[in-house]
Amino acid sequence: MHSSSMTRDPLGPSDTTCHPLERPDISISVRQVFGLETDLEVPAFSKSSTFVPEIDETYRFDHYTTIAILAGFSHNRRVMLQGYHGTGKSTHIEQVAARINWPCIRVNLDSHVSRIDLIGRDAIVLRDGRQVTEFRAGILPWALQQPMTLVFDEYDAGRPDVMFVIQRVLEVEGKLTLLDQNSVIHPHPSFRLFATTNTIGLGDTTGLYHGTNQINQGQMDRWNIIATLNYLEHEEEVQIILSKLPEYNQTGLREQVAAMVSVAEMTRNGFMCGDISTVMSPRTVLTWAENNTIFQDIAYSFRVTFLNRCDETERPVVAEYYQRCFGHDLEEENPTRIR
Ligand SMILES: Nc1ncnc2c1ncn2[C@@H]1O[C@H](COP(=O)(O)OP(=O)(O)OP(=O)(O)O)[C@@H](O)[C@H]1O
Ligand SMILES: [Mg+2]
Repeated sequence: MHSSSMTRDPLGPSDTTCHPLERPDISISVRQVFGLETDLEVPAFSKSSTFVPEIDETYRFDHYTTIAILAGFSHNRRVMLQGYHGTGKSTHIEQVAARINWPCIRVNLDSHVSRIDLIGRDAIVLRDGRQVTEFRAGILPWALQQPMTLVFDEYDAGRPDVMFVIQRVLEVEGKLTLLDQNSVIHPHPSFRLFATTNTIGLGDTTGLYHGTNQINQGQMDRWNIIATLNYLEHEEEVQIILSKLPEYNQTGLREQVAAMVSVAEMTRNGFMCGDISTVMSPRTVLTWAENNTIFQDIAYSFRVTFLNRCDETERPVVAEYYQRCFGHDLEEENPTRIR
């Protein structure tokens, strides 16, 4: 998490330069920039900078997810995106930020991120040839004081000590008190905070998300907008693959992509009925399509991308899904082939 630029002392004057502009200075049309059916206009920065994510030209914006994120940017709302894995939560926030030139960094709240990582610590540094102890601010005070979007990914996996630190800045005017520094940090007017989670804070009810925790309801209460992004419509998912991998956009291959998405949908339905315990995410479909461009063998690519990840007792069911969508059996194991 600590790149050299992130560990600079945010309390020093040099840190106000992470973005050339302090506030959004233009307004853009959501219809034109995001291709959505709405007359909304949103504020944006006219200049980019190092922390603005790169634009993915092929990205397809989901209507409700995108307007929730845009409300977060334009009205300074705290937005949480919840949904199954690999549905596009993190990248939606990143791609919105990319298009409005809002600096954005993602922090994965896995169980190793500690309170000290977020807030900061004393460090011994060399100053004029002498060793001195100096406070090095963590990512939160650093981000809080600038035009910056902080995205907490895997928010439901965060440790309790970390969650209570975040709770303090969830309120829009939420000031951060650095106890050992006797200082209070006020959020910059262009600071934004988002989170993505697989669960809705009530613990893992599906068995899919080992390692997640329940989220304190006092904390959930402070998120202003909770949007859900689960699986998209069949055709939309096909279009995402085709826009990412245009080589599939031809007769014969388009049908293949549609069949791949159908297999994924069958795993999702099968999971809901309790037939299998592993689901195929949109990310996995994309990986399958990518692997197939390497191996030029759709069945083998399926095996290494998804089937081998499934419980052995469930593989025949998954193989049947494949057979139903592709009209042929998954090849028998060929011992001469390296798998
Ligand atoms: N609407 C979309 N348009 C283009 N690509 C997409 C879209 N949605 C998802 N993807 C692609 O799918 C992959 C997974 O997306 P992402 O990492 O944002 O999922 P996520 O919901 O954050 O998953 P997780 O819950 O596991 O963190 C990425 O490669 C992303 O580019
Ligand atoms: Mg994510």
